[in-house]
Amino acid sequence: MKIAVVGATGMVGTVMLKVLAERNFPVTELIPVASAKSAGKKLAFKGKDYTVVTLEDAVAMNADIALFSAGGDTSLEWAPKFAAAGTTVVDNSSAWRMDPTKKLVVPEINGDVLTKEDKIIANPNCSTIQLVMALAPLHAKYQMRRLIISTYQSVSGTGVKAVQQLENETKGIKGEMAYPYPINRNAIPHCDVFMENGYTKEEMKLVKEPKKILRDDSFAVTATAVRIPTAGGHSESVNVEFVNDFDLADVRQLLHDFPGVVVQDNLDTNTYPMPAYAHDKDEVFVGRIRRDESLPNTLNMWIVADNLRKGAATNTVQIAEYLVANDLV
Ligand SMILES: NC(=O)c1ccc[n+]([C@@H]2O[C@H](COP(=O)([O-])OP(=O)(O)OC[C@H]3O[C@@H](n4cnc5c(N)ncnc54)[C@H](OP(=O)(O)O)[C@@H]3O)[C@@H](O)[C@H]2O)c1
Repeated sequence: MKIAVVGATGMVGTVMLKVLAERNFPVTELIPVASAKSAGKKLAFKGKDYTVVTLEDAVAMNADIALFSAGGDTSLEWAPKFAAAGTTVVDNSSAWRMDPTKKLVVPEINGDVLTKEDKIIANPNCSTIQLVMALAPLHAKYQMRRLIISTYQSVSGTGVKAVQQLENETKGIKGEMAYPYPINRNAIPHCDVFMENGYTKEEMKLVKEPKKILRDDSFAVTATAVRIPTAGGHSESVNVEFVNDFDLADVRQLLHDFPGVVVQDNLDTNTYPMPAYAHDKDEVFVGRIRRDESLPNTLNMWIVADNLRKGAATNTVQIAEYLVANDLV
């Protein structure tokens, strides 16, 4: 497989190269792509150096699959050009996620929606992926009625500039700001831009994307997304009201049995998920599983994942793996 990685020099792109290598994805030729300022730079992949090229050069190289993580505007402009050249694009930006003609995929949940005709496939938002991974098995059995989500998101979710801002602030260095306020020793209730309804775009992604992935818009969702000074890993406090009553032991078992989910929930040993411990892991970790005693059929849980792995690179590579395994590319 000839694989292009668009945004190969970025936070997600770097992890994509690592994940492709780790999972032994059948790459016969790698095409690392970035902006003109990085063209000519060398990137190592599986012990070999590859030269970074521009989008213009890459599109003509007819990759089988292009994994995009270079921002929404780049995707809007370039994904159709790659698709027209016969390349299947798996896109990490928000550009195509809610387009009714494009599939939004978490392979463990809805990989079966993919067909050979899908030339631009959307990877969900990082905070959505870890959320639906924990909700899918519970929704299938107990049917969600309403979800209340509060996120605690790391700076790596914003990109390299934000990681640099936090690093600068911890060292007392004045530098470029990715956020309107200091992030060190702070919590900023503002992830992505504000919309007319008073919510942020990130919060509305959490409202809309799960319904598309779970192929069900019968449940209600509300969200508050907060940026916190953790380097990597997103955490989510999730309150789920189900139509049907559940059994807590069964909830744990359903989560335990779902591929890619790990239950970390033992109060006797202070075992619960934390972002520092999810670092560099592909799984979604779920803990603090308990009944909401204020409302019938309602559950509280705490969901943590590495936003650059399952939240971005790993899920993208898994989509590519699904395409290859099912002869869809
Ligand atoms: N960080 C996350 O947790 C996360 C999760 C899910 C999805 N995403 C999405 O993934 C994308 C990248 O995020 P990131 O965190 O990796 O950002 P990042 O660290 O800022 O990296 C951006 C990458 O895109 C490249 N790029 C920027 N403008 C370009 C252009 N005009 N033409 C070609 N390449 C261009 C950059 O190349 P240069 O190095 O040459 O500038 C770099 O490789 C975004 O759409 C983001 O929303 C991020």
